[in-house]
Amino acid sequence: MCFRRLAVLTILSYAVCGAQTPPAGSDTYEYGGQALSAQEREGRNTWYFWTGGGEKFWRYTAQITHGITDLLQYVDSRRRPERFKTLGVLNDPDCTQATAPDEFGLWMDVCKTVEIPGIPSQSSGVVGLRKFKNPRFDKFTWDVKKYMADPATVEPPYLIGMTCGFCHIGFNPLYPPKDPENPRWYNFSSAIGNQYFKEGTLFGLKLTPKDFRWHVADKQPAGTSDTSRFATDHIFNPNAINSIVYLADRPWHSETMADGTTRQVHHILKDGADSIGTAGASLRVYVNIGMCSDYWTTLHDPIAGTKMEQKPFRIDLARKDCADWRATEARMEGAEAFLKTITPARLPAEYVSKDAEQLARGAQAFAENCARCHSSKQPPAGTGDATAWYREAVKAPDFLDRNFLSNDRRVSVAEVGTNIGRAMATNATAGHVWEEFSSRTYKEQAPAAELKGLYNPVRPSKPINFQPPGGGRGYYRVPTLAGVWATAPYLHNNALGLFNGDPTVHGRLVAFNDAMEKMLWPERRPGVQSVWRTSEDSAVPLESGYQLKVPKGTPVHLFGNINAPQLQLLRNDNFFTRFIGFFVGRGLLNNVLLRNNLSPDFVVDRGHTFGSGLSDADKRALIEYVRTF
Ligand code: HEC
Ligand code: HEC
Repeated sequence: MCFRRLAVLTILSYAVCGAQTPPAGSDTYEYGGQALSAQEREGRNTWYFWTGGGEKFWRYTAQITHGITDLLQYVDSRRRPERFKTLGVLNDPDCTQATAPDEFGLWMDVCKTVEIPGIPSQSSGVVGLRKFKNPRFDKFTWDVKKYMADPATVEPPYLIGMTCGFCHIGFNPLYPPKDPENPRWYNFSSAIGNQYFKEGTLFGLKLTPKDFRWHVADKQPAGTSDTSRFATDHIFNPNAINSIVYLADRPWHSETMADGTTRQVHHILKDGADSIGTAGASLRVYVNIGMCSDYWTTLHDPIAGTKMEQKPFRIDLARKDCADWRATEARMEGAEAFLKTITPARLPAEYVSKDAEQLARGAQAFAENCARCHSSKQPPAGTGDATAWYREAVKAPDFLDRNFLSNDRRVSVAEVGTNIGRAMATNATAGHVWEEFSSRTYKEQAPAAELKGLYNPVRPSKPINFQPPGGGRGYYRVPTLAGVWATAPYLHNNALGLFNGDPTVHGRLVAFNDAMEKMLWPERRPGVQSVWRTSEDSAVPLESGYQLKVPKGTPVHLFGNINAPQLQLLRNDNFFTRFIGFFVGRGLLNNVLLRNNLSPDFVVDRGHTFGSGLSDADKRALIEYVRTF
């Protein structure tokens, strides 16, 4: 029972709710920073406040989408009282809601001026979104009404840029906020991942259920980002913003680079595609959130992806021609040093089972069924019986300390059995936009084995067989389990287990238990009921203006995973388009759509059934043990 809302004494409430008293001086963004070195602090500032010049890209996005995605309208202060509930984002504790529009007629949060050394921007009111003056603003042509109706018509006074913290800063499981709409700095955790973030609202701010894209946004699980929305890979594959912990203890892999040299790298991202080193991976993300957009947007058609094939992003050109690249690259050492300081939140002792025997039993189940993938402490080369080694290893009192709880290897989708969508992403394969950010080793991975008997939502009696293409595709790297008690639901798409939006210790444990039970007792999963379907009739607006009807109940992946350039045929509004559209609108061409699906896998919560053959008592013990990670 948690009395947080009633508690007069914060300390009492933290004691009752299992969280610790916040340290002194913890009410500024510098909280906890006392222990950081100067370089780590600079890195923290980069993570929280540096946009790499991406604000220009977000202005461009607002223009080409005519406001469907517009960060300036997104941060409108009138949303502040319900930003967590409706957008899933975090209110900046140093700001308050505007009581009136500003001099330009815009509703902007009123923020304390906080100078961040070397970083020239102000808070927008939302953690991770920064406000800049727009150099192209002209007060004589400015018209707020025109702007709100269509941001493409007039230049606004501000640009809004995005930092890494926007998605990666989340509520601290050990210091949950009393009121999620009014957090304090010490309620945040730098890299746990914002599990409550509703990205669908960011990219569909003005859509209605009449528009198919609204349904795509609506189905996107909280806490995920479709990181290949642009540059698009034509697959709707939102993926969980995972926690970044124990970076210093993450296993290394020796991989071959494009030039034939060997480098020690981590397998970054769900599919382990970013594999040229951590700094390269981070710089790529900056580009993905807008850096060097003058160059980047010449390489692909950002939103629809229909007008041109992708071209690879050239690192040498970016370094030469884009000042933001150079300025950001210079900050990466600090950012990495900062990320290395991050350790997982361990569940407070009062929530951990007191039954030592049960915990020992859970540890043995882990040793026998999980540790070969979920441990960075691995048997020395030449160990004969690895399982015997794990059984002993888990008995050590420090087994969990600095254990990344993953071998960081890539596992084929045929072996792990989870929904293949994210592993089908093409952006890091040869000839595509992130080609230079993946190793040759990645690109030369063998294709995963053919998948047999996938659920067919169009004709359930005719299961689908699918041979995943290769070129790097077809794998998921093993994620860390450190601090996993706090980050359910699970799997790369956050589709396994209950989402309750409750950041308290209690709320997180409810979600944890539900997800772990569904993981270990697969028969408790929704299974074919988990297919994401549209909840009413809608339409895909084609460039020509023609509205392609989509009947209610259509799986969003049926349209969401279509290679859009192949739809060029439908680009013009003519007799042919209408003829095809008639049949599509009645669901009569679903088989054709299915055959052209880039990832014909619809059940989102399937797979990863390791441990499901254990006895109920062993499963219970294992769950108790995993809580302590
Ligand atoms: C719009 C949301 C969003 C923003 C902003 C964002 N990230 Fe991420 N980040 C994600 C998601 C989602 C993942 C998981 C993606 C995946 O693994 O495929 C991720 C994963 C990562 C990982 C890999 C973690 C791992 O364990 O492999 C790193 C490193 C990372 N992000 C760094 C950054 C950096 C650096 C920035 C700022 C330039 C940033 N992120 C900004 C959403 C975001
Ligand atoms: C063959 C390697 C392998 C084994 C064995 C294995 N896992 Fe996993 N585990 C994975 C991979 C790969 C994923 C990511 C799958 C995905 O997201 O689609 C994963 C994901 C998870 C997740 C979700 C993490 C998150 O943040 O979403 C949990 C929890 C988990 N495993 C627990 C276990 C437990 C408990 C066991 C033992 C019963 C186990 N795993 C055995 C490879 C393995």
